[in-house]
Amino acid sequence: MDKPKHILLIIGGGIAAYKASELIRLIKKSGMTVRCVLTESGAQFVTPMTLAALSENEVHTTLWSLKNETEMGHIQLSREADLIVICPATANLLAKMAGGIADDLATTLLLATDAPVMAVPAMNVRMWQHAATQRNIKQLQNDGIMVMMPDEGDMACGEYGPGRMPEPEAVMTQISSLMSSAFSSTSEFAASELGANPLDGQPAFAPDQHRPLHGKHILVTAGPTREPIDPVRYIANRSSGRQGFAIAAAAAEAGAKVTLVAGPVHLATPVGVLRVDVETALEMEAAVEAALPANIAIMVAAVADWRADSRSEQKIKKKGDAPAPLQLTENPDILAGLARHAQRPDLLIGFAAETEKIAEHAKAKLAKKGCDWIVANDVSGDVMGGADNSVHIITAHGSEIWERLPKPEVARQLVQKIIEEIG
Ligand code: C5P
Repeated sequence: MDKPKHILLIIGGGIAAYKASELIRLIKKSGMTVRCVLTESGAQFVTPMTLAALSENEVHTTLWSLKNETEMGHIQLSREADLIVICPATANLLAKMAGGIADDLATTLLLATDAPVMAVPAMNVRMWQHAATQRNIKQLQNDGIMVMMPDEGDMACGEYGPGRMPEPEAVMTQISSLMSSAFSSTSEFAASELGANPLDGQPAFAPDQHRPLHGKHILVTAGPTREPIDPVRYIANRSSGRQGFAIAAAAAEAGAKVTLVAGPVHLATPVGVLRVDVETALEMEAAVEAALPANIAIMVAAVADWRADSRSEQKIKKKGDAPAPLQLTENPDILAGLARHAQRPDLLIGFAAETEKIAEHAKAKLAKKGCDWIVANDVSGDVMGGADNSVHIITAHGSEIWERLPKPEVARQLVQKIIEEIG
């Protein structure tokens, strides 16, 4: 029987540290082993005793322990791990890692390791959005660190926005997918290649290659389109772009090269994603065409079905009781066009916003549009523009329902399903 996978969990000093206890329980439940390193500030939030009891392993807190340096030094600690998870990763910890600082046990072993590293940032929204943190995240991704994007929501500090640690179940899903067979065989190969002297010269692999969607190009459309009528008016819809942006982020986290064609929305570009901003359906169609070829396309945008026949150069005036001088033309169906395209992606996923007979309408749409999956959602409530989503996934092999989940969680599950499909 294979040796169980071993996780080294570094717990930074943030209020989300309490969620580490649940993560340890889930790691153990999955059959993996876990050993914890607690930073000095992490120890202000959780006790070594709790972590030791849950992990059934000694908890390491300091670089300066003689006993540990003889029996379990920081080099060995980092080497025995199949994966190092930093959860929660504070802004300070991320900054130190990005700068290559090694001034405590956690940061020293992160410099010494040849194991893949996944960071799960959690912090106040302003700290997360600060240019310095975003710069550090980009640097870490360039260095091959996998970064799991934080959730958006109410925070312990009373503010709302991105920065909240994903639920331990979501972190566990990510750990399991990274520990899947394809990944672990690469990692074992890498470990054996580097085994003799891991710090000597360049590694034989880019850590990026561990990620399950490495080498895939994923095209995502998101947000509404805006169809101008005259200089001051336009046709649009309530789409916020949040679901599409979350999918782009989850795909990038899984290692894909992601092109996100975005209609007009007020959302930050997910780290590591190439964003192309468009306004109208025709511009979106052209941007999609320009982004090809892609292995997978996920068309989440709420494209306006119609545009004004012609855009008036001047503001259109009312003329008493006369009907509005508005003629509409149907927009091209970008998804259906992609299904017929010579460069059709191998996996083509459409979204369907429905207000009734969700599954029935979605099945009909799957056939009509010629895509492989339809992700249908009931938009009769607060889904459009809201934080949560309930979806029906319709494929040629059947359907499944994911009851009300935060949009980032729907995104992660969808990316996981894609990984299983193409794996
Ligand atoms: O026909 P309906 O708008 O319900 O289809 C929704 C799906 O089709 C979504 O994936 C959407 O992005 C895509 N679509 C498109 N171009 C259009 C209309 C919808 O790509 N003109």
